[in-house]
Amino acid sequence: MPRLVRAVQITELTGPDSALQLVEVPDPEPSHPMTPGAGVVVDVHAAGVSFPEVLQTRGQYQMKPDLPFVPGSEVAGIVRGVSGDASVGEGDRVAAFCMLGGFAERAAAPAHFTFPLPDALDFAQGAGLILNYHTAYFALKLRGRLEQGETVLVHGAAGGVGTASLQVAKGLGARTIAVVSSDEKEQVARDAGADEVVRSDGPWKDEAKAISGGGVNVVIDPVGGDRFTDSLRSLAEGGRVVVVGFTGGSIPEVRVNRLLLSNVEVIGAGWGAYVLSKPDVTRHIGEELNRLIEEGFVRPVVGPRFGLEQAAEALKSIDERRATGKVVLDVVADSG
Ligand SMILES: NC(=O)c1ccc[n+]([C@@H]2O[C@H](COP(=O)([O-])OP(=O)(O)OC[C@H]3O[C@@H](n4cnc5c(N)ncnc54)[C@H](OP(=O)(O)O)[C@@H]3O)[C@@H](O)[C@H]2O)c1
Repeated sequence: MPRLVRAVQITELTGPDSALQLVEVPDPEPSHPMTPGAGVVVDVHAAGVSFPEVLQTRGQYQMKPDLPFVPGSEVAGIVRGVSGDASVGEGDRVAAFCMLGGFAERAAAPAHFTFPLPDALDFAQGAGLILNYHTAYFALKLRGRLEQGETVLVHGAAGGVGTASLQVAKGLGARTIAVVSSDEKEQVARDAGADEVVRSDGPWKDEAKAISGGGVNVVIDPVGGDRFTDSLRSLAEGGRVVVVGFTGGSIPEVRVNRLLLSNVEVIGAGWGAYVLSKPDVTRHIGEELNRLIEEGFVRPVVGPRFGLEQAAEALKSIDERRATGKVVLDVVADSG
C-alpha cells in the first residue's frame, strides 16, 4: 500500500463553496510532468493561494486538468526526496513552483523551479515568493528594461504582483509611485516600500507626472481596464507600459498613434509562458531575487492565513476581493 497524504482536491467545477474536498492521495514520487522521471518532493509547510485557483474551481482557467485534481501552484517546505540533478537536497528549506498539487502535505516540483529558501524568510513568505516576485522581476527588468534612477508607477500596488513590483523596483534602484483604491491599501503599499502613493479614483496621472518631473519611465499594469490610456499619457519620452494582467475586468485597446506621437512602448509580460521552457532564465531571476532578499528589499507580504481544511475560505477571500497580501494555507502549524 502506498503511503497516503492529506490533500485538497477540486472534484467539481461549481466554485469555491462546493468544488473542494479534503481527501487522502498517494504520496507523490520525485517526478514532475514538466520533467518526467526527475523532480523534487517537498514536505509542504505552507501553500500559496492565487486567483488562478479560484478560476480553476469554476473551470475558467486556461489550464483545465481532468477532475479530480489537486490545485496549488506554489509551496514552501522541506525537501523530502530528489530524483535527477538538483541544486537542493533532502532536508533543505525550499520554495517551489509546482503548477498543480500544492494544496497537499507533499508536492512534487521540477528541480529548476525549486529554490533554497533564505533564512530571512519563513515558510509563509516562501509560499508567496515565486509567482509574484519572478513575475515582478521579469516584468520590470527583462521586459520593462528598468534602469537604476528611473521612476516606476505600479497599478494594483497593494496586490500580490503590486507589492512584489514595489519591492523589486526599489531593489533595482528605482523610485516608486503606487496607485491604490483605499486607505487600507495605501498603508499596504507604503509598508511595501512605495515612495509615493496616489489614488486610482483621483487625478493620479497628473500627480504622477508632477512627482516624476514630467513623466514616469515604466508603468507596471496588472489591472488594465479604463485607466490604460492615462497610463500611456503618464509616460516620459521612451517610457514603457508593461501589461501584466486584467484584474479590472476589461482588456484595453491601444490607439497606436499615441505610441508614435510620444515615442513610448506597450510591452507584454507573460511570465509563465516565457520561462517554462527556459530554466536558465528562471535560475537567473532566482539569483537576482536572492540578492534582493539578502539586501532586505524583498519580503513577501503575507495576508490572510488558513488551514488546509479551510481552502474554500481562502479562495473566497480572493474571490470576494477581501484579501491584501499573499493568501496562505498553513499545511503544517509552524509555518512561521
Ligand atoms: N503576466 C503574468 O505573468 C502574471 C503573473 C502573475 C499574475 N498575473 C496576473 O496579474 C493580476 C494581478 O494579480 P495579483 O495576484 O496581484 O492580484 P491581487 O493581489 O488580487 O491584486 C490585484 C489588484 O487589482 C486591483 N483591482 C482593480 N480592479 C479590480 C477588480 N475589479 N477586482 C479585483 N482587483 C481589482 C486591486 O487594487 P485596487 O483596489 O487598489 O485597485 C487589487 O489589489 C492577475 O490578473 C493575475 O492573473 C499575471
